[in-house]
Amino acid sequence: MKNLKFLFLIISIITLYSCNSNSSKQISIIPKPDSLVVNGGEFTINNETAIVYDEQFKNYENLADYLNQRLSVTNVKLNVKSELPSSNYMHFAFNGEIKNEEGYTFKSTSDGITISASNARGIFYGIQTLLQLLPAEIYSKEKSDLDLTIQNVSIIDEPRFKYRGAHLDVGRHFYSTDDVKKYIDYIAMHKMNKFHWHLTEDQGWRIEIKKYPKLTEIGAWRKETMGDGKKHGGFYTQEEVKEIVKYAEDRFITVIPEIEMPGHSLGALAAYPELSCTGGPFEVETIFGVHKDVYCAGNEKTFELLENVLLEVIDLFPSKYIHIGGDECPKDRWEKCSKCQARIHKEGLKNEHELQSYFIKRIEDFLLTKDRLIIGWDEILEGGLAPNATVMSWRGIEGGIEAAKQGNDVIMTPTSHCYFDYYQGNPENEPVAIGGYLPLSKVYSYEPIPEELSEDEAKHVKGTQANVWSEYLPEFKDVEYMLLPRLAALSEVCWSPKEKRNLDDFLKRLSEQINRYEVAGINYAKSSYNVSIGTKLSENKNSFDIELSTELSGAEIYYTLDGTEPNNNSEKYSKPFNINSTKEIKAVSYSNGKLMSKVSTKKILIHKAFGKKISIKTPYSERYDAGGEFGLVDGIYGSSSFTAGGWQGYEGNDFEAIVDLGEKVNINKVNSSYLQRINSWIFMPEYVEYSFSDDGEIFSDPTKIDNTIPNTSGAVEVKNFEINVNDMTTRYIKVFAKNIEKCPEWHTGAGGKAWIFVDEITVE
Ligand code: ACM
Ligand code: ZN
Repeated sequence: MKNLKFLFLIISIITLYSCNSNSSKQISIIPKPDSLVVNGGEFTINNETAIVYDEQFKNYENLADYLNQRLSVTNVKLNVKSELPSSNYMHFAFNGEIKNEEGYTFKSTSDGITISASNARGIFYGIQTLLQLLPAEIYSKEKSDLDLTIQNVSIIDEPRFKYRGAHLDVGRHFYSTDDVKKYIDYIAMHKMNKFHWHLTEDQGWRIEIKKYPKLTEIGAWRKETMGDGKKHGGFYTQEEVKEIVKYAEDRFITVIPEIEMPGHSLGALAAYPELSCTGGPFEVETIFGVHKDVYCAGNEKTFELLENVLLEVIDLFPSKYIHIGGDECPKDRWEKCSKCQARIHKEGLKNEHELQSYFIKRIEDFLLTKDRLIIGWDEILEGGLAPNATVMSWRGIEGGIEAAKQGNDVIMTPTSHCYFDYYQGNPENEPVAIGGYLPLSKVYSYEPIPEELSEDEAKHVKGTQANVWSEYLPEFKDVEYMLLPRLAALSEVCWSPKEKRNLDDFLKRLSEQINRYEVAGINYAKSSYNVSIGTKLSENKNSFDIELSTELSGAEIYYTLDGTEPNNNSEKYSKPFNINSTKEIKAVSYSNGKLMSKVSTKKILIHKAFGKKISIKTPYSERYDAGGEFGLVDGIYGSSSFTAGGWQGYEGNDFEAIVDLGEKVNINKVNSSYLQRINSWIFMPEYVEYSFSDDGEIFSDPTKIDNTIPNTSGAVEVKNFEINVNDMTTRYIKVFAKNIEKCPEWHTGAGGKAWIFVDEITVE
C-alpha cells in the first residue's frame, strides 16, 4: 500500500511537470524509438555545454563536428572538453553492454545529455534523436536564435534490420555532387545506413574510370531524352566520388556502387562497341526501357574491361558489397552471337540463362579475390545463383524467398512497396505518374520478412531499401518529391520492431517530420494531404453520404459544393454529410493555416437515369469496370484520372448500352462523357448516337454527334456528348459510341486496340 501511494505521488509529479513545462509538446521521433519515457524537467544546450567523449570514441571528433554543423544555424557552438563537468554536458559515453552496434541510449536530465553506445554508430543515431527533440527549425538553413531546450527523457533504441537502404538512379538523370550529398543527408536523418548508387545505365555512364576515359567522354552524354532534342549528361570525377563516400562515411552510411552488367550497358557500349555481340555502332540510349544490346559474354575483352573498371571502383568504395546489377538482360543477341554460343559450348552450359549465371559467377570470383562480395537483382537466380551473392528481390518477393531458402542473403525491395518512382496520390495531382501506385500508408504496411520463410531462413533477410529510378525525375527536386515522406515510412519498417509499428501513431509523428522538411526547404510530396472524397449511396438510393478524409491525420479540410475553389474561409469539414441534388464537391486541406493540398474534385449528379436499370451490350474491361453496369448511372462522374475507378473501359470494341427509366418520363437532355488519354491508348469515340423507345424493342432513328477533339491531342481530355430533346417522353434510351478500334499509324501503339472510356449517362 505504501509503495503504491509512493508510485502515485511520483506519477503525479511527472504529470504535473510535463503539463507545466513549456517544452512539453508532443515528441515526434522518426523512426520511433524502441522505448521513450518523458521524465519531467528540461535541459538547455548553450555555448557553455561541454562535449565530452569517452576514451573509446576519441577518434570520432567528426561526431562533434557533425553536431556543431547542425547547430550552426543557431548561435550556439559547442566545445570538446576532456573532463566531464558535473553539469551542462553532452557526454558521448561508452557502454559495452549495448550489443547492437547501432543501438544507443539517450538520457537528458537537468544537468546534461548522455548518449551511450558501444560503437560510434550508436552515438550518431543518438545525435539524430537529439536533433528531433529540438525545434524543427534546427533543420533550417537560415540562422536564428533558436531556444535549444529539450525535455528530460530516457530513450533505449536500436534498429531491427542491419540493412536500411535508399537507392538513387543517376543514369537516367544526372544529379550534382551537392544533390547527392543532400540525398545522403536525408538517408542519415532517417537513421538509414546504405546508399545504393546506381552509376551506369543505357542512358549514361556516370563514374570516371581513369583507364577507360571514353566511358565518360562518350558514355556520359546522350543527345536527347525521349525526343526532346536536348543534350543530357554528366559524370562524377573520382575526386567527387571520394568526397561523396567520405560525406556518407561521416554519417555512418555505406555507399554501395552499382556497376550494371550484362544488361543496361549501352552507355559503355557506345564508348566501346567492340564489347557487344554485333560490334555496334551505338549511341548512348535516348529512350527508356530494356534494350537488347548488352555486353558480349563470349568476348574475353568484356571481362578485361569490367575487371579493370571494378579495380578502380573498389579503390574508391570501401563497401564490402559491390552491386553488379544483373537485371533485365535480354538474351536475343547472345542467341545469335558465335562468341557467346562458343562460350556456352566450351563451358558446357545449357542455355543463355546459364551463360548469364556464368557471367555473374565469374565477376563474383574476381571480386572475391579482392575480398568483396556481390549484390545483384533477383534475375541472378536464373541459371543458377552465385554462391556468395546477396539477392535484391525486386520483381516481387519470390526471388527473395528462393534465395533465402538457398541460404543466400537477401535485401527485399519489391516494386509493390519499395519503388518510390511509383506515384503517391491521385495521378491528376502528381507531377510524374509512372508505374503503379504506392501511397505512404502502403509503404508503412510493408513487412520485409516473408511468411514463407522459417525462422532460420528469415535470418538471411538483411533488410529493405527504397528504390528511386529517375526516368521521369529530370531535376533533384523531383527526387525529393518521390523520396519524402515515403522514406520516413520505410525507415520505421527498417528500424522499429514489427509489433510496435502503428500507422496512426506514425502519421501523428509525421506532421512534425513534415515541419522539418518544410523548414529545410525540401520539395517533399504533399499527396498525403490531398482530400479523398468518399461517396456512399444512401439506403433509399436517392442521395449520397459524403465523407472527406486525408491520409495524414491532423489536417483541416475545407470544401465547397458549387464548383468554386475552396480555401480556409470555405465550409470546414467536421463530419460526413448528405447530398440529394447535383453538386460539384471541391475540397482542400490546411495545416497550421497553410494550404497543403491540391484541389480534389468530385461531381455528383442526381438525374433521371440515376440508379435506374441499365443493360450493357458490349463487354467492358474487368480492370476498368467503374464498379460494374451500375457504374454508368451511379451519379458519380469520372475524373481526369483514368485509374481512379469512375471510368468504364472498352478495349477495341464499341460501347452500347440501354437505360430503362422504369416508366415513361419527360426528358430534356441526354449526355454521356468520354475520356481521351492517348498515352494510355484511350481515344474519344468517332461518334456517339442516342435513340429512344417506349417498349425497348423499336427504337427511333439515332441522333448522331461527331467527335470534335483531335485524336492527336496529348492532353487529358474529357468530353460531353450531349443532346437536347426538348420535352420528349420516353422510357428506354440507347447509347452507342463508335470506337476508332486501332491506335493510329503515328501512335506508339499503332495497330494495337484502342480504348473507349465512358462514364455517367445522364438524363435530365
Ligand atoms: C529494376 O527495377 N530493373 C531492378
Ligand atoms: Zn556475344
